[in-house]
Amino acid sequence: MMRTNTCNELNESHKGREVTLCGWVHRRRDHGNLIFIDLRDRYGLTQVVSDPAVSEELHAQFDKLRPEYVIQIKGNVRKRPEGMTNKNMESGGIEVLCRELNVLNESIVPPFEIDQDKEVSEEMRLKFRYLDLRRERMKSNMILRHKLIKRLRDLMDERGFLEIETPIMIKGTPEGSREYMVPSRLYPGNFYVLPQSPQQLKQLLMVAGFDRYFQIARCFRDEDQRGDRQPEFTQLDMEMSFVQEEDVMNVNEEIMIKLTEELAPNKKIMSKPFGRITWQRAMDEFGVDKPDMRFGMPITDLTEELKSCGFKVFSDAAGSGGKIRALRVEGGASYTRREIDELTETARAYGGKGLAYMQFTESEIKSPILKFLNDGDVNVIKEKTGAQTGDIVFFGADKFVTVCAVMGQVRLICGDKAGVRDPNIFAFCWVTDWPLFSWNEDDQRLNAEHHPFTAPFDEDIKLLDSSPESVRAKAYDLVLNGSEIGGGSIRIHDRKLQSKIFDILKISSEDAERRFGHLLKAFEYGAPPHGGIAWGLDRVVMIFRDEPNIREVIAFPKDQKARDLLLNSPSPLPDEQVAEAHIAVKIPKT
Ligand code: AMO
Ligand code: AMP
Repeated sequence: MMRTNTCNELNESHKGREVTLCGWVHRRRDHGNLIFIDLRDRYGLTQVVSDPAVSEELHAQFDKLRPEYVIQIKGNVRKRPEGMTNKNMESGGIEVLCRELNVLNESIVPPFEIDQDKEVSEEMRLKFRYLDLRRERMKSNMILRHKLIKRLRDLMDERGFLEIETPIMIKGTPEGSREYMVPSRLYPGNFYVLPQSPQQLKQLLMVAGFDRYFQIARCFRDEDQRGDRQPEFTQLDMEMSFVQEEDVMNVNEEIMIKLTEELAPNKKIMSKPFGRITWQRAMDEFGVDKPDMRFGMPITDLTEELKSCGFKVFSDAAGSGGKIRALRVEGGASYTRREIDELTETARAYGGKGLAYMQFTESEIKSPILKFLNDGDVNVIKEKTGAQTGDIVFFGADKFVTVCAVMGQVRLICGDKAGVRDPNIFAFCWVTDWPLFSWNEDDQRLNAEHHPFTAPFDEDIKLLDSSPESVRAKAYDLVLNGSEIGGGSIRIHDRKLQSKIFDILKISSEDAERRFGHLLKAFEYGAPPHGGIAWGLDRVVMIFRDEPNIREVIAFPKDQKARDLLLNSPSPLPDEQVAEAHIAVKIPKT
């Protein structure tokens, strides 16, 4: 046995006990005669002390210890002298007086200090991830992640869900992003595709009769990286048969509340049951499909009221089918010119042409557009937005999507300024009644807003031909503090309806057969009504841990350019290996 105890385990109740500990030299302090070491393992720290009175030879060995050496020590637990206890350390009341030291392995000087919270560049952290993972922040993130997944498995099991693994090498599944490909050696010119999600397989499991499935599933998407995206990420994926939207949402809500209360007890859930908002209202009032509901500050539509006003930017936008929208920010009359300029820059970054405003001060209305408006316009603005002295009102006038994006982002920034986005409040909400399709301007055709297997509202099926864009989907997203943490839907289980949707999406019947023939065929053998959802588990852990980006909760993530800096991947392969997969490499000229 190499150790009798772990480092955080010992306390005053172990006084006098002879122990053997293993771990890393976290910190070393020379106090004149005595040398102190904080010995570290996964569980915490224990102070080890060397006294030359015990052994001169041992003391000389101690003197040679350096940070991150791996050592084994034997000694006796003793209470620390009066005044030397450390209240910040669980083992802070004791120390181990060392009688024997074995250096198990030395360490060269680490590229950054493990024992300190100092800022280290992300590049270094990722390159030396095994050292970064020794640090407290990453360690506690990994522990929370483990606990959350473990608890999830139990909660799912208790509710009758079966965990079933699905393959990683599959055929393309449309979730809207580019796919990673695996060339086949045995079938030249053919490829496996890595799953963007197990979507089709879990639907096939429903056809197979496993009426409650789940999986902690790895998903792969070749898309642009962002703070909350990784090329490879993990979902809690689930599917249920004989259910309607309510059933899926209720199970998820129950589980999410339990996880939050047990694993993030410092977070206050703002509303139970979770709030619900339709997609249309979310876009209109909060400018996004994932509204941060920790605060109000809704956006007001003034298109009707201001469509014929004297400000050409407004009237032109309204005249060409766009929207005029306003955001009232209480107390915003004190915003400085500079703050307003910064917000205007944000508006531009989100596609807006500008950001008109009105500041209602005690003495006047400060606004670059006041000269274009009459008293009636100003009154209607005040009345509709509720603006009072001391407030600012921002305006956006543009196409619907642009106005939403601009005003939604300005709202979030103003929320930050007002300090109302408290990380200790958890505002969950369901976004429902999504449009089934969205218009793809580039390709001049309709896209599936979620994926092509999502069922339309029964009462909207009659609109599929005449006005597909107004058809609502039985889809729901779970949003937490402005982050999309889950998305799902009730699926189509009727082959005819599925074919019709493919038609509308301009997926030809040959193409549908080639890509989804297996699913369409399965639907002919008694597919039950079914639906499900998937959570972005990394995102959930990230928010539970107040982490600003997803890489902090993944042991070995890719960097922002989708590279693995530790393994140095992607990387070229030997020519023979590439040839064996029947691949010819063409490197683009830069
Ligand atoms: P969707 O594509 O919405 O749905 O994905 C579900 C959830 O996964 C998370 N997510 C990501 N997390 C990290 N990095 C990424 N690149 C990434 N992409 C998505 C989000 C998202 O809400 N098959 C459907 C689910 C279903 O219909 O049941 C699906 O995958 O939190
Ligand atoms: P201008 O007449 O271009 O000086 O613009 C007057 C004000 O309107 C400025 O504060 C601009 O930022 C703002 N503005 C310009 N275009 C838009 C727009 N599309 N939506 C909202 N405000 C705008």
